[in-house]
Amino acid sequence: MRRSMIRATGCYLPDQIVENSWFEDKLDTTDEWIRSRTGIERRHFAAEGQTTSDLALRAAQDALTRAGMVAADIDGIVLATSTPDFTFPAVATMVQAGLGMKTGFAYDVQAVCAGFVFALANADAMIRAGLASRVLVIGAETFSRIMDWEDRGTCVLFGDGAGAVVLEAVEGNGDSNDRGLLASDLNSDGQYRDLLYVDGGVSTTGTAGHLRMQGNLVFRHAVEKLAKTAHTALDKAGLTADEVDWLVPHQANLRIISATAQKMNLPMEKVVLTVADHGNTSAASIPLALAVADAEGRFKPGDVVVTEAIGGGLSWGSVVLRW
Ligand code: ACO
Repeated sequence: MRRSMIRATGCYLPDQIVENSWFEDKLDTTDEWIRSRTGIERRHFAAEGQTTSDLALRAAQDALTRAGMVAADIDGIVLATSTPDFTFPAVATMVQAGLGMKTGFAYDVQAVCAGFVFALANADAMIRAGLASRVLVIGAETFSRIMDWEDRGTCVLFGDGAGAVVLEAVEGNGDSNDRGLLASDLNSDGQYRDLLYVDGGVSTTGTAGHLRMQGNLVFRHAVEKLAKTAHTALDKAGLTADEVDWLVPHQANLRIISATAQKMNLPMEKVVLTVADHGNTSAASIPLALAVADAEGRFKPGDVVVTEAIGGGLSWGSVVLRW
């Protein structure tokens, strides 16, 4: 049975690191509030002129280097972002050009913080359908560009960055012992648009707009929906939460991550955490966390890894894989 497997991971974080204390002079907030309510200690911000495609290209190059591959080995690029350089073309095509690729497909997926989970499931389906054998799956964001710097409830939460994986076709037996992606669960419910959205766009204001969020309501949906989607994906994979070696959650808030781990009966030692150093990098947070844990050698061949995320839409989902 044809499956897809993560061959390598890569990441890129902009040089500029902003500590929580940076906000104390500008807003009615404290390092203590941000740390205790979110687990965030610092985040990276892109330099002036540095775009989402710049970050994505660096992450893609890192993943290719770690895979021991060159751009010509790749059949296509699926890139998750909500902060593209331009309305079009897709950021993925700019990465494609930056890598010197002249063949294959390149397109963007937009599911906000759940974007990487959607992109990964999408690339996996293409590989299993025989449309490609090697796909670069990227999550890249410059959320600093859509912050309202006067809204203390949102601007302290987000950061910029990019992560990438090389997804490659492999043959398996078709059971839960196979290495590679085992199952996905994707969901959206557009009735919750007003909980988390950007108040601008091409066909409305003609401006990029700013992020607006009813944080406490998003929080409640996250706690309710994330463990459920992870359990559904595990069930589809023929696995139970007891068999999970690593949870790699979307890094929005340590309290949401802990509540999800608790609902799945997973000790925090099995949870990959980057939220303290990266903040919420939206679609980039899971591939960044995968790359950090992979570089530290935490995943062993055969480990069961569960990713889960929720974001604007609302959209949420989970991918279960065996490393
Ligand atoms: N500093 C100090 N006080 C603050 C700050 C701040 N930076 N931000 C908000 N507050 C205040 C509020 O004004 C409020 O004050 P009030 O009681 O006087 O009105 C108080 O703190 C409590 O506010 P809540 O919003 O209820 O605080 P909560 O504990 O819910 O934490 C947070 C807020 C961190 C935003 C949390 O709700 C959260 O993490 N939500 C989920 C975010 C998320 O997961 N987003 C999804 C992905 S993002 C995407 O898709 C783009």
